[in-house]
Amino acid sequence: MIKSRQELIKAYIDFFKSKNHKEIPSSSLIPENDPTVLFTTAGMHPLVPFLLGQPHPLGKKLVNVQKCLRTGDIEEVGDSTHHTFFEMLGNWSLGDYFKKEAIKYSFEFLTKILKIPKEHLGITIFKGNENAGKDEESAKIWLELGIPKERIAYTIESNWWGPAGATGPCGPCTEMYYWKLKNKKPPKIFNPSDKNWVEIWNDVFMEYNKTKEGKFLTLKQKNVDTGMGVERTLAILNNLEDNYLSTIFLPIIKQIESLSSKPYSNEKNKKPMRIIADHIRAAVFILGDEKAIKPSNTEQGYVLRRLIRRAIRYAKLLNINKSFTIELAKTIISLYEDYPELKKNEQFIIEQLKEEESRFNETLEKGMKKFNEIIKNNKNEISGKDAFLLFQSYGFPIEMTEELAKEKNIKVNLKDYEKEYQQHQELSRTLSSGVFKSGLADASETTKKLHTATHLLNEALKIVLNDKNINQKGSNITPERLRFDFNFSRKLTNDEIKQIETLINQKINESLNVKREEMPLKKAIESGAGFLSNIKYPEIVSVYTIEDKKDKRGFFSKEICTGPHVSNTKELGKFKITKEESVSFGIRRIKAILEQK
Ligand code: ALA
Repeated sequence: MIKSRQELIKAYIDFFKSKNHKEIPSSSLIPENDPTVLFTTAGMHPLVPFLLGQPHPLGKKLVNVQKCLRTGDIEEVGDSTHHTFFEMLGNWSLGDYFKKEAIKYSFEFLTKILKIPKEHLGITIFKGNENAGKDEESAKIWLELGIPKERIAYTIESNWWGPAGATGPCGPCTEMYYWKLKNKKPPKIFNPSDKNWVEIWNDVFMEYNKTKEGKFLTLKQKNVDTGMGVERTLAILNNLEDNYLSTIFLPIIKQIESLSSKPYSNEKNKKPMRIIADHIRAAVFILGDEKAIKPSNTEQGYVLRRLIRRAIRYAKLLNINKSFTIELAKTIISLYEDYPELKKNEQFIIEQLKEEESRFNETLEKGMKKFNEIIKNNKNEISGKDAFLLFQSYGFPIEMTEELAKEKNIKVNLKDYEKEYQQHQELSRTLSSGVFKSGLADASETTKKLHTATHLLNEALKIVLNDKNINQKGSNITPERLRFDFNFSRKLTNDEIKQIETLINQKINESLNVKREEMPLKKAIESGAGFLSNIKYPEIVSVYTIEDKKDKRGFFSKEICTGPHVSNTKELGKFKITKEESVSFGIRRIKAILEQK
């Protein structure tokens, strides 16, 4: 039984070496020559030139474990499975083998080496869209390997991978899911949205190159790129619901238990302990990278600063009052002897952590002064604004403000704090989207259409859910789908989702004109144009109106927006919602696509 990350990594690398792959070292966490992303987010990232056709010195079949960092999910860290830093196992074919061998290798590794019974596997396959057709070939290969057809599901959105930045290699993929419950037989029919099926491996068939203009050109060579997360796979193999209980994290968690004299088994300690373990591990890897990034207020340094400070804040919640980051860093360095750069840069890691910790402790002290000032003037309640000021300018988590206030018998206005927080979240999402997420600046035909569909959706939600206060709380568009966050307090019913789709498709079929005008901000707002309350708009704004003679206002939707948009809704195709879920308290998220009619 595989118990440690080293055993899992060795099993994977040895397996692919036995299939004539050459092992390549993990590259830096900071990507070379790619200004659109801050960190290496997948094993393929350093291989982009070779996927595009440049010959690799070690040949056409490669394997490795790559250190990766993803910042998109930072707020989710604290649950049992999300991480910022993680290790990704991968094997590649650079214009050598393709679907058949790739799938066979995956199947053999999963069933023979990891000894996962094939009855516990579910497979997803690309369903096809305007960029590429349905992946019948992969489905056939899985069927031949003995996966029943009920265990194969087809999707569009989650079966297309890449590019990692704004442009580059990408393609359809087939994902492998594992039924994680030991005491319940896997259902006959595989449903990838059932949470008991967990994704463990992704085989991407990179045959396309996405250009700046948003076009998908066929690559000179057909490549395979695969990715398997070490943390998740190790937890699954050991039958653990919680990644932090695997041998990867347990020594770190144990040290946090001893630093805080609190048990991890107590539910309320889990979140802070996981955040500290995750964030300090990520910080050690960023600091230990050969690029010598220091905490700062820009780019990678800013992410590093956020990680360290967030860990310190959560340590305070556990009443860890002495300096702790260095001790944890030493443990982490000793756990990862296979990354010699950590040992080599140990002194730098320690120095930087020490400095950042003492710098933040200084603002914490100033924050305490501010806190005392606030409660002197407000004896009954700390307002949402003040609580947010403490959070924003002095790094006080709301839980800490609450705890401090309770000692003085004072309440905190949590409702107003939540409002301030949500507004800030949206603003920071907007500000960071250019750096942390890629593909947003792209104005291809596909994204233009999805952008207009987003306006239709914003309006349709207000109508179908009969709530005028619904508004955009975040939007993210890639060439594959739109993602729209909005305020609403409960899950949407299937019937409501259908009604929203129907209304939008009706407006598409009515061939409504989309008009762009420029006008002073004040006039735009007076004319009924939708806007976001926390965005600072210029004095003259552009307004996009989806005209509708049937509506007594003369339009279906009107929004202040920089665009671009299509000129008539008939260009959009068929609108379809693929997912509806919760993002945070009171905020829902819809993902939707446009299909060809
Ligand atoms: N690059 C692919 C992924 O990250 C394998 O899932």
